[in-house]
Amino acid sequence: MKLPSLDDLDVNGKRVLVRVDFNVPLKDGKVVDPMRINAALPTIRRLLDEGATVILCSHLGRPKGQVDPKYSLEPVARALADMLGKAVRLTEAANGPAEDLEGLAPGDVALLQNLRYDPREEANDPGFAQELASLADAYVCDAFGAVHRAHASVAGVPALLPSAAGLLLHKEVEVLSTLLENPKRPFVVVLGGSKVSDKLGIVKNLLGKADNILIGGAMANTFLAAQGNDIGNSRIEADRLEEVKGILKAAEEAGVQMGFPDDVVVADEFSEDAEGTVVEVGQIPKQSMALDIGPSSVYRFGEWIRVASTILWNGPMGVFEWPAFEAGTREVAKLIAEAEAFTVVGGGDSAAALAQFGMEEGVDHLSTGGGASLEFLEGRPLPGVMALSQGTKS
Ligand code: 3PG
Repeated sequence: MKLPSLDDLDVNGKRVLVRVDFNVPLKDGKVVDPMRINAALPTIRRLLDEGATVILCSHLGRPKGQVDPKYSLEPVARALADMLGKAVRLTEAANGPAEDLEGLAPGDVALLQNLRYDPREEANDPGFAQELASLADAYVCDAFGAVHRAHASVAGVPALLPSAAGLLLHKEVEVLSTLLENPKRPFVVVLGGSKVSDKLGIVKNLLGKADNILIGGAMANTFLAAQGNDIGNSRIEADRLEEVKGILKAAEEAGVQMGFPDDVVVADEFSEDAEGTVVEVGQIPKQSMALDIGPSSVYRFGEWIRVASTILWNGPMGVFEWPAFEAGTREVAKLIAEAEAFTVVGGGDSAAALAQFGMEEGVDHLSTGGGASLEFLEGRPLPGVMALSQGTKS
């Protein structure tokens, strides 16, 4: 997919509206994880170096079209100012007002207040897109985490201004496209997480592309049940059983090897203090639920991970936030971080697990998009990417 790049955008002396994804976790008025802000810095710095005035815009949380101080971008503006080493002017509202941007010169940075304070953002209102566009001479999208949303700042503005993809968006699209179009083989996909329904789209789209698909986490329960295993009191999505059976058949026909846990760590209650016991799949007691994969499963997954040339990981193997059930995710993360392969990790929970285990440095590409990377890998067109590739309407 060809996206317009910063190389083709003249920004010298211009005001550039930059859509970023600064939807970051906050605690006590402070940014807890600045990963997404960090990831946008190369684009911001490059635009400043080229003589632009940078006007950033982002959503934060889901304030439902209402002004709510809980979702103010003020802590983000402070963190960004520290990270850039320069003042960041925060406007009163998402659409300015224009007076809030008066006096800004090339090299200066402003941040518009939370786009989602205005209900017209999520409604992709053309009038709101026009108001945003009127604040600048050019537009750059670097908000990979938000390109799956057909919102005004993402899908509406690119048609109204000379536009380009920022460095982060370019990188994300390039890496994820390579996985879908031309991965170095063997290409091993490791999927986990709690909801099987969230991941079936990816499994289906990767059936013709991956060599092995390894499934852990609670989503594995539905697969194990579909194969006729008694999984005790483990959580499954019963309404997906038939779809999962269809996927198992399609994988067999496509010659894709799928791997599932052969042992799990079970507990009798879903609680941090519950005692975990390793049992073989098939021996899960009636009252017990699987909360992690077991050591034999880690060993078997490792056999595939070690020989891979490309690895995609999305979703934890168990309840990694609780010490008794973190081992499966930790060991799989370690195998991936130490692998020779080109490694890509997507999804907020996998990124959080890597951070918890201090293994982020071990992966080649840590995607900043949760929902966006899932939808990309499902092969769905992303509104923000489509709008950029369609260019400006004259
Ligand atoms: C994310 O955190 O995945 C993005 O910022 C998108 O947020 P949303 O799911 O609230 O649209």
